[in-house]
Amino acid sequence: MKYIVEIIDEDNIGNGIAKIDNKVIFIKNALKNEKIEIEIIKNNKNYMVGKIINIIEKSNKRVNPICKYYESCGGCNFLHTTFENEINIKTKYLERLFNHEIEYMHVNNELNYRNKVVLHVIKGKLGYFNDKTHEICIINHCNLLSPKINLKISELSKMNLNNINEIMIREIDNNIMINILGNIDNFNIDCDSLYINNKYIKGNEYLIDNINNFKFSIYPESFFQVNKEGMINIYNKAKLYINNGNSLLDLYCGTGTISLWMNECFKKIVGIDINESSIKNANINKKLNNIKNVEFICDDAKNIKERFDSIIVDPPRSGLSKKVIDYLDNSKSNKIVYISCNPNTLKRDIDLLNNYKLTKLSFTSMFPRTKHIECVCLLELLTH
Ligand SMILES: C[S@@+](CC[C@H](N)C(=O)[O-])C[C@H]1O[C@@H](n2cnc3c(N)ncnc32)[C@H](O)[C@@H]1O
Repeated sequence: MKYIVEIIDEDNIGNGIAKIDNKVIFIKNALKNEKIEIEIIKNNKNYMVGKIINIIEKSNKRVNPICKYYESCGGCNFLHTTFENEINIKTKYLERLFNHEIEYMHVNNELNYRNKVVLHVIKGKLGYFNDKTHEICIINHCNLLSPKINLKISELSKMNLNNINEIMIREIDNNIMINILGNIDNFNIDCDSLYINNKYIKGNEYLIDNINNFKFSIYPESFFQVNKEGMINIYNKAKLYINNGNSLLDLYCGTGTISLWMNECFKKIVGIDINESSIKNANINKKLNNIKNVEFICDDAKNIKERFDSIIVDPPRSGLSKKVIDYLDNSKSNKIVYISCNPNTLKRDIDLLNNYKLTKLSFTSMFPRTKHIECVCLLELLTH
């Protein structure tokens, strides 16, 4: 059935919102104030999903998506509007979610920012998995990736990729690292570091990035922020929020990048991460940067018991476990900085911390043009 609707609002993942007989309809890629002819493609008990057939009145914030895979890929959510409008939509969403003032930290690299991609290979064809259907979207270029990674993708697309399941490509300081997963022992490709099934084959065992006078080493299986500008924004904000003190815990420390960033502000820093490869990098980073006051431990965050003056947590999308919440809530640390790539789990976790109050909240575009949002917030100990 077809309807003509007016878009009254927008959600945080690129849908316009309209109503028919008071029932909410989500319409992919529709913008506020547009008049649109739609077709209903799903009718659930509480909401409907509509598809644009024809835009009758266009928003002045609409732009032509620069990507030919935009409809089929599902990786980007905001290519149909300006970057400025994407930020406004995300800011409004966060203000509503947290009922708190938000500071936005701008990045200039709205495209070509990603230093890492993981591509799937199905029947020899290379592409992304559509996040909803899990069908492969064959690509030989992606606007979010660095130009050098795109060149490698186009080279790989022309090669025989039979018996390969997945290819990870990283570009760090102009060097290319490739890790191939599949039923193969060797692969002939020009790059600076080659791994097959996570086993080192040739070139450099790890790559080194140079950021703000720090050297950061990266193994293929280690975590490293994908967008340098976004990374600098969140690290600088965390530093500003937390000031200095005697001791700092960097929980979920990855390759220890935040610990190094903060090293001059604290006498003692402990970084903890569950991933062995990341901790290996963290210890290399300590030596590369000649830093003495930091200790890195490979462990599950839930095992932490020691007390620190300040704490930074930067968990995965799933947020904090009950044990970590209990530890933080009883930690008596003056300040906790929570870095999060998932506002919903961030909100859930903040609400569970009875002894802390959210005092500052900011976000940056770590993943421009996608639905993802990276927040940094300051939680301060309540004096009851
Ligand atoms: C978002 S990354 C943050 C890394 C780091 N703060 C950075 O900026 O590069 C999340 C990290 O949490 C680690 N992790 C996941 N589950 C964990 C757990 N249960 N205990 C400790 N670390 C964990 C992952 O290995 C990953 O390095």
